[in-house]
Amino acid sequence: MRDATPQTIYLKDYTPPEYRLGQVELTFNLDEEDTRVISRLRVQKNPETAAPNAPLVLDGEDLELISVRINGQALPPDQYEVTPESLIIPGAPKVEVFNLEVETRINPRANTALEGLYLSSGMLCTQCEAQGFRKITYFPDRPDVMAPFSTLLIGDKTRYPVLLSNGNKVASGELKNNRHWVKWEDPFPKPCYLFALVGGRLECLEEKYTTGSGREVTLQIYVEAHDLDKCGHAMRSLQQAMRWDEQAYGREYDLDLYMIVAVGHFNMGAMENKGLNIFNTKFVLARPDTASDADYEHIQGVIGHEYFHNWTGNRITCRDWFQLSLKEGLTVFRDQEFTADHVSRAVKRIEDVNLLRTRQFAEDAGPLAHAVRPDSYIEINNFYTLTVYEKGAEVVRMLHTLLGAERFRKGTDLYFERHDGQAVTCDDFVRAMEDANGVELQQFRRWYAQAGTPELFVVGDYDAAERALTLTVKQHCPPTPGQSVKEPLHIPLALGLVGPDGNDYPLRLEGEDEPATKSTRVLDVTATQQRFRFVGLPEKPVISALRGFSAPVRLHLHHSYEELAFLLAHDSDPFNRWDAGQTLASRIVLNLVEQLIEGEQPHKADPHLLQAYRKALTQDWDDLSYLALLLTLPSEDYISALMKVIDPDAVHNARQLVKRELAQALRAELTALYHAHHRDESGRFDADAVGRRKLKNVCLAYLAELDTPESHALCLKQFREARNMTDQIAALGGIVNSTHPERAASLDAFYEQWQGEALVIDKWFALQATCHLTGTLTSVQALLNHPAFDLKTPNRVRSLVGAFCQSNPVNFHAADGAGYRFLGDHVIELNAINPQIASRMVSPLTQWRRYDDGRQKLIREQLRRIADTAGISKDVYEVASKSLA
Ligand code: TRP
Ligand code: ZN
Repeated sequence: MRDATPQTIYLKDYTPPEYRLGQVELTFNLDEEDTRVISRLRVQKNPETAAPNAPLVLDGEDLELISVRINGQALPPDQYEVTPESLIIPGAPKVEVFNLEVETRINPRANTALEGLYLSSGMLCTQCEAQGFRKITYFPDRPDVMAPFSTLLIGDKTRYPVLLSNGNKVASGELKNNRHWVKWEDPFPKPCYLFALVGGRLECLEEKYTTGSGREVTLQIYVEAHDLDKCGHAMRSLQQAMRWDEQAYGREYDLDLYMIVAVGHFNMGAMENKGLNIFNTKFVLARPDTASDADYEHIQGVIGHEYFHNWTGNRITCRDWFQLSLKEGLTVFRDQEFTADHVSRAVKRIEDVNLLRTRQFAEDAGPLAHAVRPDSYIEINNFYTLTVYEKGAEVVRMLHTLLGAERFRKGTDLYFERHDGQAVTCDDFVRAMEDANGVELQQFRRWYAQAGTPELFVVGDYDAAERALTLTVKQHCPPTPGQSVKEPLHIPLALGLVGPDGNDYPLRLEGEDEPATKSTRVLDVTATQQRFRFVGLPEKPVISALRGFSAPVRLHLHHSYEELAFLLAHDSDPFNRWDAGQTLASRIVLNLVEQLIEGEQPHKADPHLLQAYRKALTQDWDDLSYLALLLTLPSEDYISALMKVIDPDAVHNARQLVKRELAQALRAELTALYHAHHRDESGRFDADAVGRRKLKNVCLAYLAELDTPESHALCLKQFREARNMTDQIAALGGIVNSTHPERAASLDAFYEQWQGEALVIDKWFALQATCHLTGTLTSVQALLNHPAFDLKTPNRVRSLVGAFCQSNPVNFHAADGAGYRFLGDHVIELNAINPQIASRMVSPLTQWRRYDDGRQKLIREQLRRIADTAGISKDVYEVASKSLA
């Protein structure tokens, strides 16, 4: 519950800790409602920072204090003070080093916030990042206080036969009353946010891994018994990740045991606790008939992500939470590259940029815009954002682009060598890059401090007589809350010039002697305005700018429809080739949007897209996943972001119109391609099969738009015969978004078939919540009363409430405000259960400035109502109040 005035924390106020810790010894007497925690700390005064009489202040929340002892002596209550957020011991530090023993009582069953120690389907587990450890015991809960931990777990043998914590299992034994104990030791000093424990009835899949230097590591994945047949993919992904980190970064695993536990109630994706990762079941469990190809890819990515944190996050951690991107941005970059090395690199890049451009750009343009390294927060949980993670990864990627792979690796080598065992800052990371390579990155550092998406304007001027092209590049970053003035950034601009034959020209800048060889060059854009003059160009080229999306900016470069179609057919850069198609499609849809807004009967869509698609459909392709993306229209969110004032109905209707027109005109080609790639298959996750399924299901989605007896039959056949989830859910999607006569029966059949698999039932909810037909809010409201719906399970909330509000723009933004009220109601209800989840749900409301006056007013009403609710959490208060400011 909220204090009267939630406090803002500032980066500029950072001071080093006054007390440090030696060994930490924890004892847990586990019980669902009455867990006792004894914490024994070796406390050392930090002579450099602590004043002689500095009190010892420990963080703690929702704890019942039982006793405090110093050097074995019980402390009488008048010698300490307990506040709602801390334990203060004024007279403690008369000596430099002392032992502190604190006993507390906690109630895991009452913990619906899923932070600290909580109960998930009978299993006890912890989530301590960012500040959950203070809900377990009184402790200096800050990442720059690191210590080796030993943990003794005691519990009932029947309820908790498995007792896990960080590090190595060193001893275990039996007790009376059907109880037992296990002792764990983690030799690597760590901050308390990396602490974890698990107790439950779990089964485990175990395999071995031999490191590059020949050490054997035991790998274990713990799940509930009926999920044991769904751990194989996670295990293979873990082994791939371990090998990849050795090869790509020279990093080996450091303990003899690596454990992963899957839990059904989890606020986020997964958590990198040292030696004991805790995962949302969604990112562990997969069998071809229960998980789609997209799920398989996400599991591989998240398993990799948490594994890579062992070096980027755990061995080297963050000095304070403002430095969160030090570990998250770098680790996302590492997991992106890991995935790219195992699937289609081009497709992976496109998926990542799509997420960044639709969701992160919106965040950067809204009321909660913040830098990759924020300079203030009220609730740190609100800063696990797309900016910190995804833009943070782009910042690391730009360093990679500017330095090149080899020098980047020299930089990370120095970073690991210099800072192993330390809690450091984003600046330390950049300095390692500089020092390893003798370069200077002063201007580049602004990417960490400056919020907002820079706009990049590129204009080309070709001089036929001189055979030269002058490129004028301008940059401008719009103001963001609290940052009205922006400085120019150091932007790597990867560029190609495509000649009329479709081949890249070799690039030579005026004044350069060497013969031109490179067809893509990275230009250093550092000033507000800059010119680059390329020479030796016999004919006017088409500019292919920002290849591979070399910087997280909005590019403004005007091409004609013909030029876009030309790049879509010829650009040697697969990202820009795809992007040319997206730009072409967006412009065509936006033209129709304008006609719809003007009240005109919309004309036919411009034929350039149809022609380009027809050409692509009849070509030969190696990478079918890539072709599937080429044929996918930009999302409603992407198109909306290009408008001054978003009209969700016009965007939806115009996009549907284009989709249907394409389906009609290309019906024969799409049908042929569908049948060419449709196989009765079990759903193995290999690149060829994934590509086939992806392409075939894109064809099916177009054909389903026709909503004819033939398309109904095709969807129903695939739905009924599918032996893998990718095909089954794609077919059901076609059925649900049409007037299919078997719609209700198919949904029922799917539920019947999968009611025992929670993750599949999440898909069932999400599919109905994202249906674009009218009346969806009514069915969503009915689903809230379905026996399988539960507000205490974050995955369920995300699959129904989240999916409707974040992935169904045309229904959520209904002009009468019913969608907004629906979200307001649920944010308020969730706030009392789980503030982190409630706060994340508010995010669609933060974008109110992008809509017309009527919608603005209705959204603001809900934000007001939320902000004024009695007992609103810090989490929700911060988002709602900053949105209204
Ligand atoms: N460190 C986790 C990751 O990115 C994120 C995380 C997991 C988290 N659970 C959390 C962050 C709870 C805040 C709260 O891998
Ligand atoms: Zn992470």
